[in-house]
Amino acid sequence: MESPFKADILKGKVAFITGGGSGIGFEISTQFGRHGAAVAIMGRRRHVLDAAAAALRSEGIRAFGFEGDVRKKEDAARVLEEAVKHFGKIDILVNGAAGNFLASPEDLSPNAFRTVIDIDSVGTYTMCHEALKYLKKGEQGKGPATGGLILNISATLHYTAAWYQIHVSAAKAAVDSVTRSLALEWGTDYDIRVNGIAPGPIEDTPGMRKLAPEEMQNKYSEFGPLYKLGEKWDIAMAALYLASDAGKYVNGTTLIVDGGLWLSRPRH
Ligand code: HXC
Repeated sequence: MESPFKADILKGKVAFITGGGSGIGFEISTQFGRHGAAVAIMGRRRHVLDAAAAALRSEGIRAFGFEGDVRKKEDAARVLEEAVKHFGKIDILVNGAAGNFLASPEDLSPNAFRTVIDIDSVGTYTMCHEALKYLKKGEQGKGPATGGLILNISATLHYTAAWYQIHVSAAKAAVDSVTRSLALEWGTDYDIRVNGIAPGPIEDTPGMRKLAPEEMQNKYSEFGPLYKLGEKWDIAMAALYLASDAGKYVNGTTLIVDGGLWLSRPRH
């Protein structure tokens, strides 16, 4: 689907996207590139990164894949430094890397719980912490939007409770809290905007393939006000809004993009 935004809204920006080689992260990489940004993607799998970067470059987008695990502070620091060497700077950090699987609390070991917290919550915080020196560019109060931007990909699971997702619900609750705290502190001190996006079920993603078998996906029509799954495009458009000057007064919010699904209940 065609973008409603002008093609130059991120012109001259460099975006660094963890988990940017697949799923929602790749769509954000693609749309940011199509709207003028150069794109650094970080992931654990070399072949996924290479394929993603090649696909972006075939569209004329400046893109490069950097191998690293957000759970490792040394990887975070090294990869950010490599990206700055390659592209000259980082304006936008998108934390899209996440881990997930379905498990009941009875079957979920504390280590399994910790693994998802490590990827989603600690990983997000680590990337923010290590990226700060690149994102803080000006001093607060000296002209418009002098700092960079952070976008944390979250979920809606923890607004209520979700079966077999105790680990991810806890992890994403922490991500939302980090979003608010950094928005307050780094918004004030460095003019860095920090926001999140909470996607609902999005078709054709690793998340949906892992979490919802096809028969379950069809059932969403019984619950959702908009009677359909979302598209990766929907999330990327929300990311473009928040990353562009259109979102310049938005700080500390997590934008729900789920067609209203988290509000809904069965009719009967
Ligand atoms: C129970 C499991 C399990 C499962 C792993 N574990 N899979 N427990 N059920 N299906 C346990 C292991 O037994 C181990 O605990 C601990 O978790 C760590 O497992 P490892 O395999 O060593 O971890 P690792 O290789 O680092 O893999 C991390 C991962 C994996 C999260 C388990 O799935 C992964 O890397 N995923 C990344 C890609 C991904 O999931 N993308 C989808 C994101 S979708 P013990 O106790 O045995 O040591 C998404 C959407 C969220 O985030 C919102 C949805 C609406």
